[in-house]
Amino acid sequence: MKITVFNGSPRHRESNTHFMLKEFLKGVKDAGAKFENIFLVKKEIRPCLGCFDCWFKTPGKCIIKDDMDELLSKFLSSDIVVFATPIYIDNLTGIMKNFMDRLIPVIDPRFERDEIGECRHKKRFEKYPKIVVISNCGYPEQSHFQVLRLLFKRVARNLHSEIIAEIYRGGGWLLKTSLVSKKLVLDYKKLLRKAGREIVKNLSLSEKTISELKKPIISVDEFIEFANKGCDKLLSRIKI
Ligand SMILES: Cc1cc2nc3c(=O)[nH]c(=O)nc-3n(C[C@H](O)[C@H](O)[C@H](O)COP(=O)(O)O)c2cc1C
Repeated sequence: MKITVFNGSPRHRESNTHFMLKEFLKGVKDAGAKFENIFLVKKEIRPCLGCFDCWFKTPGKCIIKDDMDELLSKFLSSDIVVFATPIYIDNLTGIMKNFMDRLIPVIDPRFERDEIGECRHKKRFEKYPKIVVISNCGYPEQSHFQVLRLLFKRVARNLHSEIIAEIYRGGGWLLKTSLVSKKLVLDYKKLLRKAGREIVKNLSLSEKTISELKKPIISVDEFIEFANKGCDKLLSRIKI
């Protein structure tokens, strides 16, 4: 089994997204799967030109010469792809969006009806990778992932794929602060490793793992108090 991670955070190895991925991938490795962890920020991915040449002139191939050619092969040769992104303005990052727009060569321009009668483009290939979504955001609640949840459901439909797991961490940045106990951080890391193993073994997460992953790490009131103190501290350092 081959798993490819596409990390859409601009913060590279410092990202909270990477903090989560490192543990998830340890689990993937323990369960015996091969993986590649790609930082999209380190790749040259120019915006889609909207020319549709990848459909009607050079079918399956984009005319832009950048790193996307290599990334498309990695995408298509994977059994599972992980779309990993922090929440930016209730959505995925621009880096991830650019990457996803450039995935259109993998589908055929012709139309069909899906299982529920809704229109979509046909497959270009027999098999597409299954999808795992991993995200974290600044706010503490799960509700901030509403847009991502719906977006990836739609994307999976259009890519003839399926979502096999979604791991969303509200208040992701707290994992690196003193507010959260070391034990809680260690337990959460352990849970991410368990999720990685379950994905490789079962292509899904158990109900128990899903519910544990969703648990808040602190209350909203604690969050507001702690976060505001942090903001005040940083703001007080500004020299006028
Ligand atoms: C431009 C920008 C927009 C953001 N928008 C949101 C948002 O809508 N909701 C939210 O909860 N956090 C938002 N955040 C906070 C990030 O999701 C948060 O800092 C996250 O931990 C960053 O993850 P990373 O370290 O993996 O890049 C935003 C951050 C930036 C820089």
